[in-house]
Amino acid sequence: MPACAGQLRLLADETRLRLLHLLEREPLTVAELTEILDLGQSSISGHLAKLKQAGLVHDVAEGSAHRYRLRDDAPAGLRGAWLAARQLSLGDPAIAADLAALERHRATSGRDWVSRVAGLLHREYAPGRSWDSLAHAFAAVGRFGRCCDVGAGDGALAALLAGGSSELTCVDPSPAMVAAGRTRCTDEGLANVRWVEAGGEKLPLHDASQDTVLLLQSLQYVEDPAAVLHECGRVLVPGGRLLVLTLATHDHAEAARYGHRHKGFRDADLRAWVRPWCQRPRLTHLPPESRAPRFQTLILSADKAASSLQPPASSRGN
Ligand SMILES: C[S@@+](CC[C@H](N)C(=O)[O-])C[C@H]1O[C@@H](n2cnc3c(N)ncnc32)[C@H](O)[C@@H]1O
Repeated sequence: MPACAGQLRLLADETRLRLLHLLEREPLTVAELTEILDLGQSSISGHLAKLKQAGLVHDVAEGSAHRYRLRDDAPAGLRGAWLAARQLSLGDPAIAADLAALERHRATSGRDWVSRVAGLLHREYAPGRSWDSLAHAFAAVGRFGRCCDVGAGDGALAALLAGGSSELTCVDPSPAMVAAGRTRCTDEGLANVRWVEAGGEKLPLHDASQDTVLLLQSLQYVEDPAAVLHECGRVLVPGGRLLVLTLATHDHAEAARYGHRHKGFRDADLRAWVRPWCQRPRLTHLPPESRAPRFQTLILSADKAASSLQPPASSRGN
């Protein structure tokens, strides 16, 4: 039987649809749902268990209760089916009555939004509180000095970095990316950004000329990551900082679709590659992404030691 038949059956139930409409508005416990829907607790628990098993909702323990919510990372087909069912049922009088009951519940429960999300804020939506806005805020106070962005792509992040940089050198081997990046920076009036078509294995920069070097999801694209990280050490001033955002080692075939040459990196390799110029690199693994196949970002930050061994003087650079 096609999987979609099971998904449609899951959604072709009045109580489950009512539950989904409520949980879409806010995460709720079984006790709250029982009160709002005026239905028996065991019936509600049974329907929630089915929705949870299908991957459409999940629950988080809260004291002795469990708070249920819609999953952002529900299987794509099921999510699409729910959105279609939602559209069809939105104007239904029973759904409208439930949403009105939810409003009354909010008004009488005495718990305002702030006290309700205490301890859960890391997974709650709050208007304007996005990772995107946070990145912009931190970049606005960042001090990058003379900064080189290796594998800068089309400059999508240049505006973010240029404000905190005295000079920003964007390096990328792709002519198409560099052309797009130049156009973007000209259009945005970023006068302190220059673009160079080159690979990270051979940076067109003088020794000890950069305060900050960045590789933002580009290390997995390079041919020779050890050579690139060696180059980063060469161009950094003593005390300068390298920041690499890349992927932890994985086995996801999808990486090929994005043109990755490497299936992420092992901590030990990254450490070994920066060891000639940095004694204590820091590595941080972020939680796997919620979206399949759940790539995991790895952050490497490495400060160049004041007395690190310098690679042989290079005649490269400009
Ligand atoms: C996913 S994009 C990241 C772009 C940018 N850092 C960002 O976050 O918006 C990866 C970039 O790495 C670049 N790349 C490929 N090989 C490279 C190499 N050998 N050295 C430096 N960058 C390289 C690609 O051309 C591409 O623009």
